[in-house]
Amino acid sequence: MDRVLTNLKMVTMQPEAGYQVIEDGMIGIEGGKIIFAGNASHEDLHGHPDVVDCHGALVTPGLIDCHTHLIFAGNRAKEFEQRLNGVPYEEIAKAGGGILATVRATREASEHELYELAQQRLLGLKQDGVTTVEIKSGYGLTLSDELKMLRVARRLGELNDIKITTTLLAAHALPPEFAGRGDEYIDLVCEQIIPAAADEKLADAVDVFCEGIGFSPEQCQRVFTAAKQHGLTIKGHTEQLSNLGGSALAARMGATSVDHIEYLDNEGVAALAACNTVATLLPGAFYFLRESQQPPIDQLRQLDVPIAIATDFNPGTSPIASLRTMMNMGCTLFRLTPEECLRGVTTHAAQALGLQETRGQIQIGMDADLAIWNIENPAELSYCLGVPDLVARVVDGHLFPAHQETANAY
Ligand code: NIG
Ligand code: FE
Repeated sequence: MDRVLTNLKMVTMQPEAGYQVIEDGMIGIEGGKIIFAGNASHEDLHGHPDVVDCHGALVTPGLIDCHTHLIFAGNRAKEFEQRLNGVPYEEIAKAGGGILATVRATREASEHELYELAQQRLLGLKQDGVTTVEIKSGYGLTLSDELKMLRVARRLGELNDIKITTTLLAAHALPPEFAGRGDEYIDLVCEQIIPAAADEKLADAVDVFCEGIGFSPEQCQRVFTAAKQHGLTIKGHTEQLSNLGGSALAARMGATSVDHIEYLDNEGVAALAACNTVATLLPGAFYFLRESQQPPIDQLRQLDVPIAIATDFNPGTSPIASLRTMMNMGCTLFRLTPEECLRGVTTHAAQALGLQETRGQIQIGMDADLAIWNIENPAELSYCLGVPDLVARVVDGHLFPAHQETANAY
């Protein structure tokens, strides 16, 4: 074993009884993988080159934020302020505000600028014990600007102590130069942007915004077909503002997750269950938009649909870089249990990214991605906000103390 963590409690999040706290635990790591996880054996570790005494801390799988728009330039704070001062949304949009304001700023920004901005935001997620983050494009909306965003996402993963998965979201909004020509923009997405992102290995998955203000189910179906032809995983922003049937369509086409889903109906839930598609809830957007339509939690539970939770970090609907806050909102706004929330940011979040074989559990053979917390009980992760109770993160077996990460910001 390269490294042994001892004197710890752990919550493995394995499918059976994984939420039970195992006292007197020990985790052995070799080659970045977990090779032992269980009660401390009475093996003599004396003289082992790398024993980490966790002083009774609680260890969970590293948290996974499976839905973010972390890369963009500018922000929409002024728009937020204008709206609270009574300026109607339409007026702001006519003056060039909203998502297209972010598209303009992102197109103008260099890769270096985008990198620096996103790296700052990653610090927030790391302080919450996150070890894997999914990052979407979708504020470029041209071939070169979408690839630019994905390159920045890849580089963030290469140069930081956090794992990044990338998702092409060219079908996020209709760019102004294609106004009134949605199908032609989808041609560009399917015929040029998806093939280029796949050829350059810049995207792990392809996402769409299936909505009245986004793209129709027919257009999304074309995007999914092109993505699958290029061997990419598919997922969708679906049923966020209305029920167009995008979730069922995505599920039937093999999507790993459908996200938002406040307006999902029973038929949609049944489709997710039949296709083993993850339902990703985004309580930050629900909160920030003051949405009142609740996602169909009871139906999802009844049909055993795996529920994930993510930040959806973005400048328009969820400017909150805290996965712990999302767990808390999952409980307070959606009445999920702390166990469901922890599963939502570990095993189910891994499944939403198609990574359930290697991440999201403390399990022999899986990646040694862990979060070490100065807490007694896993419910505290959803219960308490703002107290810096993260001791360290472990990514592929490497230890990153939490206080050092704060120091890195200066
Ligand atoms: O996930 N729903 C679509 N897209 C983002 C918001 C994008 C924006 O407003 O900038 C979301 O909520
Ligand atoms: Fe989103």
